[in-house]
Amino acid sequence: EGAVLGNLFFEPSTRTRVSFGAAFCRLGGAVCDTTGFTFSSMAKGESIADTSRVVSGYVDAIVVRHPDQGSVAEFARHTHLPVINGGDGTGEHPTQALLDLYTIRREFARLGKGVDGARVAMVGDLRHGRTVHSLIRLLSLYKGMRFQLVAPRSLEMPPALVEAALAAGHEVEQVTSLADSLRGADVLYATRIQKERMSGESMEAYPADFRIDRRALAALCRPDTVVMHPLPRDGTPGANDLSTDLDGDPRLAIFRQTDNGIPVRMAVFPVLLGVDHLVGRDLRDAPWIAPGRLGPGDAPFHRID
Ligand code: NCD
Repeated sequence: EGAVLGNLFFEPSTRTRVSFGAAFCRLGGAVCDTTGFTFSSMAKGESIADTSRVVSGYVDAIVVRHPDQGSVAEFARHTHLPVINGGDGTGEHPTQALLDLYTIRREFARLGKGVDGARVAMVGDLRHGRTVHSLIRLLSLYKGMRFQLVAPRSLEMPPALVEAALAAGHEVEQVTSLADSLRGADVLYATRIQKERMSGESMEAYPADFRIDRRALAALCRPDTVVMHPLPRDGTPGANDLSTDLDGDPRLAIFRQTDNGIPVRMAVFPVLLGVDHLVGRDLRDAPWIAPGRLGPGDAPFHRID
């Protein structure tokens, strides 16, 4: 109650921005946001460091989405407030992975399955898609995972992430065709081709047979395969993304997945503000303690008490 969230999005977003904001409001807080570079002082050349310190004086927690990998970590280095990565370029998207995992666990609970040993197929632009980068790392905390990574050759999962999954004892199968890969998948996690992050020649490498529609699902999936996608799905002609002809199929979990963004993000804030033990036990307002010095460079006499 009374806390303010700074929701700073320097890249397009619908669900991440709105669900972070809605989650914070539902906890009793208020949200201030900025969208795009044009409407922030970064357009005037302000650094991430200065932006971070300035915003820290106004709010109690910060969510940042930015087109450059590593930029959110840089933002966090210049403040003592909690900073949540809402997507840093082709890097990571950790709260998406948390809500994806929460979705998998809920869908599996309904089907009487556990996560350990599950066969998870990740399909599409695994090179630029940050959601799958975070998801493979998170799922690798479980035991005996069997990852099927399905991507055209130029859009494969970064080798470091594949090696980390292998080193953690999981099976990783990398294939370039949808046809011979999905059989037996417990989860099919489709992703959008990240056109905005690539040049013309790598775009051409994306073949039409990557389209996931009713026909592909009938041929390749089990009756209980959970079909997921971080969304948005690209509906432009020739995009070959997850097809709308699957809408209404009970295996399609995409809107249960987006709905799960609210409880998961509501859980993240109290943990980061150090009040989860209060929120979990009763419905009274939870007081949080703001750091004495907001930025690492602040002089000790900065505040007038
Ligand atoms: C994803 C993202 O921004 O990384 N969207 C999301 O946050 N749910 C996926 C995408 O843009 O393709």
